[in-house]
Amino acid sequence: LYEDAQKEILSADSLQQIENLRVKYLGKKGELTQILRGMGSLKPEERPVIGQIANEVREKIEGLLTETKNKIAQLEKEKRIKSEYIDITMPGKPYEYGHKHPMTQVLDEIKKIFLGLGFSIAEGPEIEFTYYNFEALNTPEDHPARDLQDTFYVTSDILLRTQTSPVQVRTMEKNKPPIRVISPGRVYRSDEIDATHSPVFHQMEGLVVDEGITMGDLKGVLNIFAKKFFGEDTNTKFRPHYFPFTEPSAEMDVSCFACGGKGCRVCGYTGWIEILGAGMVHPNVLRMSGIDPEKYSGFAFGLGIDRITMLKYGIDDLRLLFENDLRFIQQF
Ligand code: PHE
Repeated sequence: LYEDAQKEILSADSLQQIENLRVKYLGKKGELTQILRGMGSLKPEERPVIGQIANEVREKIEGLLTETKNKIAQLEKEKRIKSEYIDITMPGKPYEYGHKHPMTQVLDEIKKIFLGLGFSIAEGPEIEFTYYNFEALNTPEDHPARDLQDTFYVTSDILLRTQTSPVQVRTMEKNKPPIRVISPGRVYRSDEIDATHSPVFHQMEGLVVDEGITMGDLKGVLNIFAKKFFGEDTNTKFRPHYFPFTEPSAEMDVSCFACGGKGCRVCGYTGWIEILGAGMVHPNVLRMSGIDPEKYSGFAFGLGIDRITMLKYGIDDLRLLFENDLRFIQQF
């Protein structure tokens, strides 16, 4: 019996097999147990002899089982450790870093320039009262911009702001001159989407109010901005324009370089491109915002951030800025 058991135990190669063998030989119905049970039928003088042999065999089998079990457990452990081994000297997987959207980069750069000139940042709501977007900006009831076709109204008193200019009014209501703020943000107009239009786009307002502010200050500040942003050799040109909330009003063009000054989709064919509207704050606007137009004067400007981003990088389709196609975004 012991020899059978020994042969079987030594050829076992899993913990489960060892357990099966333990049951086979030592279990309640096991072979050795049967022998011990049968002791009753032996002659009394044979019992101690057989009993001793049976116990010895039992001990040996038990010992062998335990020994083999430990050996197998050790082997399995080694196998597991080998399969879980991590080679810490292997090079890591390359990690892909994200970066700022080109428009955020441009906005950061613009902010830096104006903060350097002593401006601070003001914010206003995108869902705005009609009053701040139009009335307080001296925009008459019959002005075309107020048309339902061009403006998203929420109610007749509330709309999605069509420009960042309402922040001018909110800033003047809350602060006394000297005022020097810029205010970037989203604006909304009811436009069809195409290469140069989107119902949501981005503007940045600028406002300076103090004693003795003139059109010369306006031109000086915007000139510095254009040169710092587009490069020192950039020229600017101011053309007369009309806005209800500034008088006089102007549009500023910069010399176009996105396509080497030659005609292209981004710059057109004149060598100049318009980047902002500006003017001296209308006395009516100052007065309605609680500032005395006899004592103070100011200038304001509003520029399109999307437009300036397109110009800076020579992007010819506005939609690329909003679609977040990584193949496009990763180029910046
Ligand atoms: N709000 C004007 C626009 O959206 C731009 C502007 C701002 C003009 C400030 C003059 C002064 O076109």
